[in-house]
Amino acid sequence: MEKKLKKLSKRVNNYFYNYLIKFNSSELIAPMKYGLFPGGKKIRSKIIFDIGKIFKVKGKNLLILAASVEAIHAYSLIHDDLPCMDDDKLRRGKPSTHIKFGESTAILAGNSLLTTAFEILSDKNFKIEDKTKSRLINLLARCSGQTGIAGGQYLDLNYEKKKVSLQKILKMELKKTGKLFEFCCIAPLIIKKDKKNLNLFSKIGKDIGLLFQIIDDLIDFKGKTKFAGKKTQKDQKKGKATIISLLGYENAVKYSNKLKQDIYKKLKKHNNKAKDLRETIDFIMSRKN
Ligand code: IPE
Ligand code: IPE
Ligand code: MG
Ligand code: MG
Ligand code: MG
Repeated sequence: MEKKLKKLSKRVNNYFYNYLIKFNSSELIAPMKYGLFPGGKKIRSKIIFDIGKIFKVKGKNLLILAASVEAIHAYSLIHDDLPCMDDDKLRRGKPSTHIKFGESTAILAGNSLLTTAFEILSDKNFKIEDKTKSRLINLLARCSGQTGIAGGQYLDLNYEKKKVSLQKILKMELKKTGKLFEFCCIAPLIIKKDKKNLNLFSKIGKDIGLLFQIIDDLIDFKGKTKFAGKKTQKDQKKGKATIISLLGYENAVKYSNKLKQDIYKKLKKHNNKAKDLRETIDFIMSRKN
C-alpha cells in the first residue's frame, strides 16, 4: 500500500509542479508547494483512483480531480495549524507552514491553494462537458465552505471544552472531514453520469471520512509524534470534542470497527472491483500517521 501511495503521490505532485511552474513569478508559490508536497499521504487521491477503477473513469480526469482535492486539503491543514486554530508547530514531520514562512504568508498561501482547486477544475485542459464541470465545481465549493470544511472547523473550535452530544460530534466530523471524502467518492460517478450509484457512494464517502477522522483522533490519543509527524496527545489538552472524549478510547475503537463493517457491507455489490478501495480502507484503519 505504501508503495502504491508513493507512486500516486508522485503523480499528483508532478501535476502540481507542472501547473504551478506556469506562475513562477509569485512569492506565494514556495509556501504553497510546502503545504502541498512533502509528506502528505494523498489518501483522498487514492480513493478517487479506487472509485475511478470501479467505474472505469479516465486516468487524466481522475488526476485533475485528485489535484483539486489535494489543494483544498493542503489549504485546510495550513489554516488548521495556525495559532488562532489548533496552534500546531509540526506538520508531516516538519515545521508547519506558518512557522516556516510566517502567519500572514501561510494564510495567503492557504487562500491561494483554495482558489487553485477551482482554477484546476475550471481549466480548459479538463476535458469534460461544461455542465458536468460546473456541477463538480459547485459540489467542491459546497464541500469546502460553510457547509463543509470551514463550517466543520468552526464547530470543532466552538465545541472545545464543552460537553457535546454524539449527534453533534458526528455532524461536525461530517462537515470538517466527511464532505471532502464524499466528493472523492462521487466526483468520478458524476463524470460518468452514473446516477444509479450516486446515493450509495455518497453515503460510503461520508462514512469513510468519518472513519478517517476517528482514526486520526485515535492516533492523537495513543500515537507517537515520531510516526504521526505531528504532535500527539493534543486533543485532550485542548478539550476537543471527539468520539473518544465522549465515549472513551475502547468504545471509539469499537465504533470505528463497526463503521468499517458497515462500509464493507455497502460495497458488497461491487465485490471484486472494489478490492483496491477495501485495501485503502484497511490502510486507513491500520495507519500510524
Ligand atoms: C489530516 O489529514 C487531517 C484530517 C482530516 C484528519 P491527512 O492525515 O490526510 O493528512 P496528510 O495529507 O496525510 O498529511
Ligand atoms: C483537521 O482535523 C480537519 C481539517 C479539515 C483540517 P485535525 O485538527 O484533527 O487534524 P490534525 O490532527 O491537526 O491533522
Ligand atoms: Mg483541527
Ligand atoms: Mg489540527
Ligand atoms: Mg487530529
